[in-house]
Amino acid sequence: MSDMVTTVHVPANDPAPLGIDLSTRLAGVYFPNPVFTASGCAAAGQELGQFFDVARLGAMVTKSIMLEPRSGRPTPRMAETPSGMLNSIGLQGPGIDAFLQRDLPWLAERGARTVVSIAGSSVEEYGRLAQRLRGRPGLTMIEVNISCPNVEDRGQVFACNPRTAADVVTAVRRASSVPVFAKLSPDVTDIVAIAEAVVTAGAEGLSLINTLLGMAIDTHAMRPVLAGVTGGLSGPAIRPVAVRCVYQVHAAFPDVPIIGMGGIRTGVDALEFLLAGASAVSVGTAVFGDPHAPVRVVDELRTALAERGVTSVADVIGRAHRDPATYVPEGPDPVEDPA
Ligand code: DHB
Repeated sequence: MSDMVTTVHVPANDPAPLGIDLSTRLAGVYFPNPVFTASGCAAAGQELGQFFDVARLGAMVTKSIMLEPRSGRPTPRMAETPSGMLNSIGLQGPGIDAFLQRDLPWLAERGARTVVSIAGSSVEEYGRLAQRLRGRPGLTMIEVNISCPNVEDRGQVFACNPRTAADVVTAVRRASSVPVFAKLSPDVTDIVAIAEAVVTAGAEGLSLINTLLGMAIDTHAMRPVLAGVTGGLSGPAIRPVAVRCVYQVHAAFPDVPIIGMGGIRTGVDALEFLLAGASAVSVGTAVFGDPHAPVRVVDELRTALAERGVTSVADVIGRAHRDPATYVPEGPDPVEDPA
């Protein structure tokens, strides 16, 4: 890090300290900075509220909410892997009634912009969830989780099929009063084809990516580590996959806003996603080791932009797609071939 630039804590919602404009727009919605939480890693925000003011982030993204309360899968539900984390929680949650009564008002009272993630086991359930969320104070956008890997039947992963993915988005779009972002799975042959289907069905934006389906085996017990056998892989191990997905989808649909996520731990990681074409990023698994990670990423991103002489987030979104012919790799000057 350059000694010319220091990381400073700044007042909530000041979009341009150090002369750097961190604000971003997704589907016409303004956010003071592009760093969000990732769904599933901070419930509805109360735990993180012990560590920082939740309104300091661009937005809070809640754990996927379903119609009914759920206790989730049996334990063990989490496992560490090299540079990653496997989980099979099984969409544990309080259900939409408790969420609307307790969690969303808590976020609204604190001035947090809230992206509510929803999950259903049928197209109809998704539509009903969107209907229940209509007009609720604090609701900024809906993230449609069509890519949870921990469902009973892989046939239920709506995002693995363009038609089922589109059907869910159509139902949510019809019922929703706010922009709808579809969260896609990287576990497909062609993520651009799924992106096209959901955008055609009315999604205003995309969240890329959900966890990859993974598995670990305990070599002493000689059986799977997770009670659910398979689980979602997250953390730095998946970052190159996520960056690739963001890059491919942004290349195909440069006008569709993307929230990028997958293994972001630092401001420089966040910058990588912005360069690939994301207009905002979500920080997820990193909060388990460092609950301050999302606010730290805001500060580090500001520093990373300043160090590169960039004055606004808008100037770096999708920049890795530009001017490939004039690309100059970083590093020492090439040594002249003496021959
Ligand atoms: C759940 C786990 C995930 O890894 C995910 O991406 C979505 C949901 C869950 O089990 O609740």
